[in-house]
Amino acid sequence: MGWKLKQSPRCGRLYFGPGNGGTGAVGENVPLNADVVDTKTVDEIDYFCRQNDISLVVIGPENPLAEGLADRLEHPGRAVFGPGAEAARLEADKAFAKQIMKSASIPTADARTFTDYAAAARYVEARDEPVVVKATGLAKGKGAIVCDTVDEALAALRVCLVDKVFGDAGATVLVEEKMVGQEVSILALVDGRNIFVLDPTQDHKQAGEGDTGPNTGGMGAYCPTPLVSDKLMSEIERDILVAAVDALRRDGVTYRGVLYAGLMLTAGGPKVIEFNCRFGDPEVQPLMMRLKGDLLEIMLATCEGRLDEVDLSWDKRCCCCVVMASGGYPDAYAKGKVIRGIAEAEAEPGVAVFHAGTVKGKGGLVTAGGRVLNVCAMGDDLKAAQAKANAACGKISFDGAWFRRDIGYRVM
Ligand code: AMP
Ligand code: GLY
Repeated sequence: MGWKLKQSPRCGRLYFGPGNGGTGAVGENVPLNADVVDTKTVDEIDYFCRQNDISLVVIGPENPLAEGLADRLEHPGRAVFGPGAEAARLEADKAFAKQIMKSASIPTADARTFTDYAAAARYVEARDEPVVVKATGLAKGKGAIVCDTVDEALAALRVCLVDKVFGDAGATVLVEEKMVGQEVSILALVDGRNIFVLDPTQDHKQAGEGDTGPNTGGMGAYCPTPLVSDKLMSEIERDILVAAVDALRRDGVTYRGVLYAGLMLTAGGPKVIEFNCRFGDPEVQPLMMRLKGDLLEIMLATCEGRLDEVDLSWDKRCCCCVVMASGGYPDAYAKGKVIRGIAEAEAEPGVAVFHAGTVKGKGGLVTAGGRVLNVCAMGDDLKAAQAKANAACGKISFDGAWFRRDIGYRVM
């Protein structure tokens, strides 16, 4: 997002809080961190904004949105991109999201909520079919456990309700019907009144090639995906996105920012897996690579309720984003591994490397997270984009690095 914002002729100074090993090349990293939104954090950010005459604040991740940072930073002359806490509950509280979907007849998996292990265990035993056990709170993308057998479901319930591995976030669980189909991510900008749906993307959540192994935050994505026709897109817009925004409005809640619907394309039509209240990672990278309009203008228009005035057009080409991860991720992994070869990878036209878990130290650029880099490439079709992204990954190295070579395989 920063890379795209910086391309706007209206972008003056750009700051990242706290930023990473790559953002310093686009703007200035500043020691602000909104992982925890307490009074001190809000005061620090607000003070920084006043000192530096900040006219737009973009809140990226779900945690600060869920904790109300957008509400608390709002100020005359300062636009804040991202929904307030009430609207962000669509992501932060899966039980609330289910309730909204039910009230608006939005298609989604059947589900029941539980706080008591014994009651939940009786339910899955009686059901005796594959289910998904989900922590209802925020769990960094790891709170959904897909269970094919009753034993797996009982183990998942134990993880959440007895061992409390997700803490409060897993104290209430959803036990939902397991859906089958292709997953797509449909993101829309919502300005309170208008909604603008972005081109469809597909993420790859599992660690292993061919969609095997544990769930991750996302190992790669491409855009656009041919899985969603224009007709299906209109249906999704009307029956899912507009329906959700309207349902919130009926409860007196205005949605402003990005609304992300994670969908399963089932035999019975598209159904919601989850809502997010932000751009997806790694969906945002291919979206930004292909977006032709001015992101700064688009974000301001979203904040100011005039999305109908902006130009949102897309590069015709396809973009494939491949995530390079640390050895061991999504379980424990080492940090501090020296990264080499990014400049070589980016020398190829149409390739851009975005940083995630990196930091610049005395010894140069090193790893600092599980998902380390997002290697993006444009191509005339998905096959060309994937080949170019994989080749670019091949030029980059750090100890333990791994990536999926099959991003987009489901439609190729
Ligand atoms: P979530 O955190 O809700 O996005 O779930 C993470 C991942 O778990 C999804 O991307 C799906 O691959 C899988 N998943 C979640 N809910 C379901 C479901 N009801 N049926 C099948 N797979 C699911
Ligand atoms: N890529 C999925 C997410 O950002 O939640």
